[in-house]
Amino acid sequence: MKNIEDYKIKNLDDFNNQREMAANEPELFWSGIASTFQWNKKWKNTLKYDWSIPNTEWFVEGKLNITENCLDRYAKSNPDKKAIIWEANDPNEDFKVYTYKELLDEVCKFSNGLKKIGVKKGDRICIYMPMIPELTIAVLACARIGAIHSVVFAGFSSVALAARINDSSCSVIITSDGGFRGDKITPLKKICDQALKNCPTIKNCIVYKRTSEKIDWFKNRDIWWDDLIYGLPDKCDPTIMNSEDTLFILYTSGSTGKPKGMVHTCGGYMVYTAYTFMNVFQYSQNDVYWCTADIGWITGHSYMVYGPLLVGATSVHFEGVPSYPDWGRFWQVCQKHKVNQFYTAPTAIRSLAKQPIDFVNKYNLSSLSVLGSVGEPINLEAWEWYYKNIGKGKLPIVDTWWQTETGGIMISSIPKVTKQKPTYATSPLPGVNAEIVDNNGNLIEESSAEGILLINFPWPSIARTIYGDHDRYKNVYFSAYKNKYFPGDGALRDENGMYRITGRVDDVVIVSGHNLGTAPIENSINEHPKVVESAVVGYPHEIKGNALMAFIILYDKIDDNESIKKEINDLISNSIGPIAKPEKVIIVSGLPKTRSGKIMRRILRKFANNDMENLGDTSTLLNPEIVNEIKNTLKLLN
Ligand code: WTA
Repeated sequence: MKNIEDYKIKNLDDFNNQREMAANEPELFWSGIASTFQWNKKWKNTLKYDWSIPNTEWFVEGKLNITENCLDRYAKSNPDKKAIIWEANDPNEDFKVYTYKELLDEVCKFSNGLKKIGVKKGDRICIYMPMIPELTIAVLACARIGAIHSVVFAGFSSVALAARINDSSCSVIITSDGGFRGDKITPLKKICDQALKNCPTIKNCIVYKRTSEKIDWFKNRDIWWDDLIYGLPDKCDPTIMNSEDTLFILYTSGSTGKPKGMVHTCGGYMVYTAYTFMNVFQYSQNDVYWCTADIGWITGHSYMVYGPLLVGATSVHFEGVPSYPDWGRFWQVCQKHKVNQFYTAPTAIRSLAKQPIDFVNKYNLSSLSVLGSVGEPINLEAWEWYYKNIGKGKLPIVDTWWQTETGGIMISSIPKVTKQKPTYATSPLPGVNAEIVDNNGNLIEESSAEGILLINFPWPSIARTIYGDHDRYKNVYFSAYKNKYFPGDGALRDENGMYRITGRVDDVVIVSGHNLGTAPIENSINEHPKVVESAVVGYPHEIKGNALMAFIILYDKIDDNESIKKEINDLISNSIGPIAKPEKVIIVSGLPKTRSGKIMRRILRKFANNDMENLGDTSTLLNPEIVNEIKNTLKLLN
């Protein structure tokens, strides 16, 4: 049998061959890679799809359990190999290592715990935890027994958490008493208690003790993690899943208020995350890989949990933040664990670049071989700082473009194999058929192009639907361009066919790498009794990439603008989380609207970008006078 390593792209010929094969014979290509995994029953059809429905199925009728592929295989062949090196928030706390065997045992134990409280295949389990090993264990335990995990980032508020729990009617939530992040403690259990007041489907709340904070306890509902697994065996047979059974739901923001529960399935997701992990990071068997993301986001799912474990990698998982106890923390961890591949976000790079360079130079970074970036376009300055100071002018940087919806990396260079170009994600990976259309939806055939990015053929890890709302899935991703996947990003292509992502073309703003729909933020601002209406737009920000500017109309003029701004910030923190707070709140007497009553956001975006002149066509405005008024307000503030 072939091994996944046989599909490792080692040189440009390999890359071209794989790209050609994936384009000409996608089924043959992907079924070859899929054959390197452990299946309980081989699939019948490699791919069935019809994007007019839209429907996509990979490895149809194949049977497997992804955790057997992540854990059992390696626990058997290489039991002592390190799977996870966990580094605590506090550098004085000992780091922990889980070998593949140990991780499998812990996962099995917790799987048995979940079974003990009645969790079955197909049940939805919410996980709201800090970055501790138990988060990974909980995720894999769900997958082991066929329960669908829905991880909610531990920075979301109780209202946002409740909305996500209710959307997929989760029956169990797994949390911890609190979480350490820098010098702060997040009271996770308290936030859960608040959320669960409005979550009738939750039967149990499993609590891992991490911070030993005092917490409230609801005897019939709450269970300590340790009590749950006490005395349970560390063997648990994996539940055999269909390739197209749901593996997990992960929520992402959209252009409307309701979060979208993206549904990923077992087989295709497994094959694609493993293949892309191995190739994009050029992972070799003795390397130590570190992705600084949080498992609450897709990057954590695909490139901290599943991708690395599927190829038997050793990964660092980090509980803390880059600035604690000082801004050298990332580099100290790189030195300590001799990290080879380092994957982070542009917003972190920009913050790090602001600090004295001593924080970098104190540490020996000679183990590093590949640097990665994800989450938003990386600006040239940040790229150069990363290249010069961390890469010492010689390490390849992979700028990886992808999404919660795509499940895995779609566009990226391959280190030392394909060319890199600063600020360009560069080449679509084998099997990714990218194209650019102009604003009228016409395909641009020439190499040099600027317009809207589309993908015109299925790849194995595309999200199959939005949980409970296939119509919305169709509308958002498959309606604007017939039979093509529309990711919502603009792109530029140079004369050599290299892609640069230029940013969102919808009402999603990426702030510090977090996707924020402006609609839910507006909804929560509008809840303020003094607010008539609001509009939120993004504008470029030095560290965060983008920041938010909120324009609000009040019922009555008030003297104390500052206190209303604070109240609005509190409202947003409560309903979504502190990450969604606008940088600036501007009180206006009206918003520019079209005759049909739609807010002309384009104009507000220009204003927020400090562009007061090139407003484009304003002839369809119902209230053109408001444009000057807002302009004057902003000038006064500047
Ligand atoms: C943006 C994160 C430019 C993009 C994996 C995308 C990027 C959204 C890049 C998805 C990149 C992600 N260059 N933009 N390398 N990576 N994006 O779902 O707008 O949190 O649509 O997935 O982030 O964000 P999400």
